[in-house]
Order: sequence, then structure tokens, then C-alpha cells
Amino acid sequence: MTENNFEKGQQVILNLDSLAFGGDSVGRKDGMVFFVPEGAPGDKVEVEITYLSGNFGRGIITKILEASPYRVTPPCSLHGICGGCGLQHLTYEYQLESKRKTVEDCISRIGGLENVEVLPVLGMEDPWRYRNKVQAPFGGGLDPYLGLYAKGSHRVIRLDDCLIQPEVNNRVLLEAARLAKKYRWPAYKEEIRKGILRYLLSRTESKSGKVQVVLVSMEKEPKGRYKFAKELHDAVPEVSGVWLNYNARRDNVVLGENYFLLAGDEFLEEDIGGIEYLLSPGSFFQVNPVQAGSMVSLILEEAALCGREKVLDIYCGAGTFSLHLARRCERVTGIEESGHAVEDAERNAIHNNIENVEFIKGKAEDVIGGLPEKHYDLVVLDPPRKGCAREVLKAVGEDGVPEIVYISCNPSTLARDLKILSGMGYKTRKIRPVDMFPHTPHIECIAFLERAD
Ligand SMILES: C[S@@+](CC[C@H](N)C(=O)[O-])C[C@H]1O[C@@H](n2cnc3c(N)ncnc32)[C@H](O)[C@@H]1O
Repeated sequence: MTENNFEKGQQVILNLDSLAFGGDSVGRKDGMVFFVPEGAPGDKVEVEITYLSGNFGRGIITKILEASPYRVTPPCSLHGICGGCGLQHLTYEYQLESKRKTVEDCISRIGGLENVEVLPVLGMEDPWRYRNKVQAPFGGGLDPYLGLYAKGSHRVIRLDDCLIQPEVNNRVLLEAARLAKKYRWPAYKEEIRKGILRYLLSRTESKSGKVQVVLVSMEKEPKGRYKFAKELHDAVPEVSGVWLNYNARRDNVVLGENYFLLAGDEFLEEDIGGIEYLLSPGSFFQVNPVQAGSMVSLILEEAALCGREKVLDIYCGAGTFSLHLARRCERVTGIEESGHAVEDAERNAIHNNIENVEFIKGKAEDVIGGLPEKHYDLVVLDPPRKGCAREVLKAVGEDGVPEIVYISCNPSTLARDLKILSGMGYKTRKIRPVDMFPHTPHIECIAFLERAD
């Protein structure tokens, strides 16, 4: 196929000039824009064209002719193979600045908002081994192993060490795979819909190093499961609880509805800023506890609560922000659709002796019309990647709440929603990106808004 005088398989020389949303570098030639994975802005590279469509294409680097000053040797041996840390070949300083620029670009291009201050990204002092949760697929059929999906596919590659996860995790994955083989539980193969084990999830407590393990299985009662749990604990003493999640679905959804405790503790305990969270295996929790603590501090500092406020925390999860806010205001109402997370949030409130908080289970867009209070002093929004439902933004705007804190893991939907809120009279005072996911292209931001009148 020929497009714009280029052909697939052709070698071209490109000067890479910027980083696109998602982590590919961008180079331009004769009116075409090429996206190049593992390129660094400032590189001069020889690229083989792998894809062409209209006025853009993709290519892989075949030779680095001149290396960018932002390029470093990625420490992980799976860099470029695994789909995880696509920015490892860039200096950490450059990663942070490019994330800031991406946010700025989204706010002006998608949000159409000018003069919004996007502050420098709050990075980590040590941006490795920060991720407290892993979701590893099983591969290998009758000789099961645990790993990660190869970039852009569902092929499972064996994992010896992942540098953004705690070291204990390596032992958990290795021992779990060994025991799976011992109990003759083959890895589930999507293509032929055969096998037993789908995933292993593990979540690690940042201070104590205790690990909660969830085995996701096609079978509800795989033979030997209790022995498996005990032997896993014996082999890796940090394992404090082992669960089985039953998931016989035929699609790609990772977790089924039902969890069974096989051995050990029901909950994992994580401390963020002096509040202890008891986590059940099914609920969302921030994956980077160090940076979650930084976010809590930033929010509390900006909100400057005096103790008399009523706060609404929409998309509240297990109460990460609600409980901190409740210690500083009159009352917090949290809204959350996951039943597991609401149960955790309620338990966490009791565990921390916090009484001035209540949690409503339901979709925010469904329950926001019937809340116990008429007016709130502060609304916190922390939606999933797709952003807030229109009805939610409309209700918040109509309530006339004076201040909004919007936490987002997707700058595009953040920009879209800030534009909607701007149309309802809210000015975005500033945005502080926080690097929750170093070495990956993911970007987390906190936007602080106030009612213009
Ligand atoms: C990004 S997480 C934030 C959780 C929490 N604020 C925290 O920091 O731990 C988004 C949360 O929104 C919940 N959620 C997703 N869609 C929702 C909806 N339509 N209504 C209410 N909650 C929803 C998810 O279950 C998840 O707990």
C-alpha cells in the first residue's frame, strides 16, 4: 500500500520532536506524522514503517543515529516487550515535564481553557518499586507460569522481576506458579476456553510488606485449594491472606463476583497519612500509597477546612479522601457504586473512630438527585478514566457549591469536564499533576476549581 509516497516496510530517517499522549515519540516527514514507540524527543533515528493511514503512520526504530539527551538505558530487561513502563528509556525529569505539557495541551486543546496554571508534576524521590498491586495473567498451559501481557497482545511473557513492583512479588509469582503445577491446575487459554487459572492478583502493604493474594479461577472449588493457600504462605511468609475469586466468564473481565477466603487474614491494612485502611480484595485502592499520601496532603492544604463544612466525595472508593476530610469538617457524604468498596469505606470509618461520614452505594448519576443535604461547601470528584457523568456535573453546578476538587487519571476527560464546569460558572484555579505511575504514560492530576461569582 502506498500513501503520500510512503510504503510499509520502507526505512525513513526521522528527527523525533515531541512525545504523544500514550508515550510514543513523534517525528514528521513530507506532511506525514509518524508515531514511534521507544523513541526519545531529540533522537535522530532510522525507522521502518509498520503502518500507514492518511497522513499518519507508525514505525519501529531500526537504528539510533543520534541519541537524544533525554535518553537513558532502561533498567528493565522487558522494556519494549511488556506493555507496562513505556517511558523507562527517558530521564525521570523529562518524563515529569512531558506529563505536565500533556496536561497543559489537553486543557487548552480539548478544554478550550486559557490561563489555567498547570504546576510542575509532583514526582517521587525514588520512582521504583512503588506499585502495591499486580495483576499477573497465567500462561504456559499445563506448565503454568505467571507474567505480563506482551505489548498490544494477550501473549503472556514470563516475569522474573518487575522494577515498579515490590520484590516480594517475584517470590509470590514464582511460588504460586510452582504450586499451580503441583496441584495440576493448567493456565486458562482464552482462544480454546480451556484451563483453570486466569490471574493472580497480589496487593502489598507498603510498611509491613504483608501480601494479600487472589487466585482468579475458572473453577469454583479447584481440588487442593486450601493446601495451595497454606503452602504459599509457608513458602512466602509475607503472604497474610489468600483468596479465590471465581470467574467463569467468557469475556476479558478479570474478576468474577464471588470471593472465597482460603487462608489467613480477610483484609490488608494500608496507612495513608495516619488513617488505616482495611482493604478487601475486591475494592479499588490507590496503587501508589506514597503518592496517595501526597495527594491527600495537597487536597487538605488547598481545601483549608475550618470544621463546619459539609463535603460531598463522589466516586469515593474505600473512603481514601472521605476519611481525611471528615477529620477536618462537619460531615462527609461519599458516593460509590461498588458494594465491596462501600463496605470497606464503612468498616474503615469505624476502624478509625470516624463517625461524621456516611456512604451511599449507587451510581453517582442515579443517586445525586436524592442526597441528604441541600447544599455542600466542597465537592470532591474522583471518577474513573471516562470522567464524570453529565448528570453529575450538572447537579454539582446547580447546587452552586463554592469549591470543587477534581482528581483525574485521564487529562482528556478532565479537560472535557472542566470545560463543562466552566460553562456552569467554575474557574479552574490551578492543576497539580502528581506522578502516581512513574515510567508509564499514565497521568494523575488534581484540579482546584472555584465558583467565579
Ligand atoms: C478512580 S477511583 C477513585 C476511588 C477513591 N476516590 C480513591 O481514591 O480510592 C473511581 C471510583 O469510582 C467508582 N465508580 C465508577 N463508576 C461510578 C459511578 N457511575 N458512580 C459511582 N461510583 C463509580 C469505582 O468503583 C471507583 O471506586
